[in-house]
Amino acid sequence: MYFKTSLSLIIAFILCAGISTGNINAEEYSQDELKNISFNVTALFRAYRKTISSNKEAIHKPKKYFENVEGRLGIMHKNAKQHYRVMTKKSLKEDGIEGKIVKDLQKAVDKIIRLAASGKLGLAWKGKNDYVKKWDGKLLPARFAAYVAEEFNKKSKEGVKIKLTTSKQLLVNENNAPDEWESKIIEDKLISSKSYTGKPIGEDQGKSYRYILPEFYAPSCIKCHGTNEGQDGLKIHPSKLKRKIGDFAGAITIFLDKTKLKK
Ligand code: HEC
Repeated sequence: MYFKTSLSLIIAFILCAGISTGNINAEEYSQDELKNISFNVTALFRAYRKTISSNKEAIHKPKKYFENVEGRLGIMHKNAKQHYRVMTKKSLKEDGIEGKIVKDLQKAVDKIIRLAASGKLGLAWKGKNDYVKKWDGKLLPARFAAYVAEEFNKKSKEGVKIKLTTSKQLLVNENNAPDEWESKIIEDKLISSKSYTGKPIGEDQGKSYRYILPEFYAPSCIKCHGTNEGQDGLKIHPSKLKRKIGDFAGAITIFLDKTKLKK
């Protein structure tokens, strides 16, 4: 009798332990939480890009600038944390699921910067438009961002994907082309938004959650992307769409796989 009870207790215990470690009880994130995670990931991604876009030496002479690569990376991570704090009014999360995503993104940055330092990062234009060759060898912020996203997406175990894209009318690099979902939102809702307006949009798609955050041309972008006299926009964009400071420039999008991203 005693034996039977304790045996069933042991079995019950094993079953419970199995269930809790097997994550059968894992709870899904709410829409608000998914939106929040997405926003935080885009903020960190933009914070890292800003460490490049605000650093002329890094853009123009990446190999030389990153010669002392570990030292430079240390500064970069510190500055990105600071930019993140300014953007989100929070400090960077180092624990939980967000902590894991943060670490993956930091690792992707490390990898790309080490490649840039060794001269092995592809910075030569491979697209059709020969005009773009004038920036060969430059670590343009959009180039850096696209490489970091590619590396991050390859390694992320949390089912998170990040992408820098834009309208087909403004697209310089075909590799950054929007997919159908991105393109529809950009053309219908974002491209003609008034100066610096246009809010992020999140959408639940059952097994996944998608998020798109619009960005706008700042004064520093306009020499290349503007369409006035003396600006390069009409030479690098595939359309004649007029662009000036404050206009829609592109978007960062996040794809969350809800079957992998559990509490
Ligand atoms: C020195 C010229 C230059 C400046 C300054 C510049 N860009 Fe670009 N931008 C480019 C080029 C060239 C590419 C394509 C780079 C590549 O993929 O090799 C690009 C790519 C992009 C992309 C990715 C989509 C695409 O068309 O391939 C976005 C979005 C973008 N730029 C927005 C901006 C914004 C916003 C700023 C200012 C914060 C900015 N750019 C500043 C030249 C520039």
